[in-house]
Amino acid sequence: MWIHRRRPLDPVGGKETPEKVFLSRRRLLQAAGLGSGLIAASAAAGYFAWRRWRGSDAAVMAAGRVDESMPAMLAQAPRDKRFRYGRPETPEPAAARYTNFYEFSVFKWTWKYVGSFRPRPWQLTIGGLCRQPMRLDIDELLHRFGRHLIERQYRHRCVETWAMCVPWIGIPLAEVVRAADPLPQATHVRFQTFYRPKQAPGFLKWPDFPWPYTEGLTLAEATNPLPLLAVGMYGHALLKQHGAPVRLVVPWKYGYKSIKSIQRIDFLPHQPATFWNTAAPSMYPFESNVDPNVPRPWPQHTEHVLGSGTRYATELYNGYGQYVSHLYRKR
Ligand code: MTE
Repeated sequence: MWIHRRRPLDPVGGKETPEKVFLSRRRLLQAAGLGSGLIAASAAAGYFAWRRWRGSDAAVMAAGRVDESMPAMLAQAPRDKRFRYGRPETPEPAAARYTNFYEFSVFKWTWKYVGSFRPRPWQLTIGGLCRQPMRLDIDELLHRFGRHLIERQYRHRCVETWAMCVPWIGIPLAEVVRAADPLPQATHVRFQTFYRPKQAPGFLKWPDFPWPYTEGLTLAEATNPLPLLAVGMYGHALLKQHGAPVRLVVPWKYGYKSIKSIQRIDFLPHQPATFWNTAAPSMYPFESNVDPNVPRPWPQHTEHVLGSGTRYATELYNGYGQYVSHLYRKR
């Protein structure tokens, strides 16, 4: 009897792939290979374009550096040991890359647009209802108030729910207010920044905003020990995107109260109009203390700290209640 024994490499009878199917499967595999190659190539191209657009840390810092170096006294300002973040410090490039400065852009990467901005020379005028009005350039400001320079590690909380931990160097605002000697009728302080459309593209790009940027505090808030007229951070002069050459830092209020690049400070007998309170009064009340229980209009319970990848619980007055809560009692 003839017995067919299948040798190991013989095709299995009737189960071999028909040639047509075999070839079309091959084309499919080739197409799939080509497709995933293209996807990988465009992902890589996208990644490198994003890296270029994002900028290196060195580029972000260099873009904002002001030509004239500030006196060494900034680097030597003593640290006020009463203040600690209670969280890791924000790496400087993370803070410098992600900033709010609408005069330059309504997007965060304002460092790309500050090239034409000239924060030197710079006059700061202090006037309104006070006995000792002043007009000082930044060197005169440092000369006059330099003995009060201090470094403070403050938490900063933006109403957009991002936050940062930054070592500011500045003069306590209360010292400047005291020197200006406000009249008894003065109840509020108004701060105003610059209007220079040739140096900052935001003025003409977004003309509907109530330029120039203005902010305000009550006189009691302005004479509290916490607010700083900051001229530096991380041991050196402020970068342009952070508000060179001089800005306000009010750590218990949402970040928009901390007005940058200040040119005028005036003592007034009434509450002043402010940039954000004029643009959207229900979202940005004059007082604007950090409060996790009041939505604005989005929830404010937690905050993302720049450069940390971590969310933290937001605290009433941003954690500075022991210094400021008495200002708001009995209401
Ligand atoms: N000051 C001016 N002149 N223009 C601005 O757009 N933005 C405010 C505040 N000061 C702003 C400003 C807002 S919304 C915040 S959160 C802080 O600056 C941000 O400070 P930073 O960008 O240095 O982190």
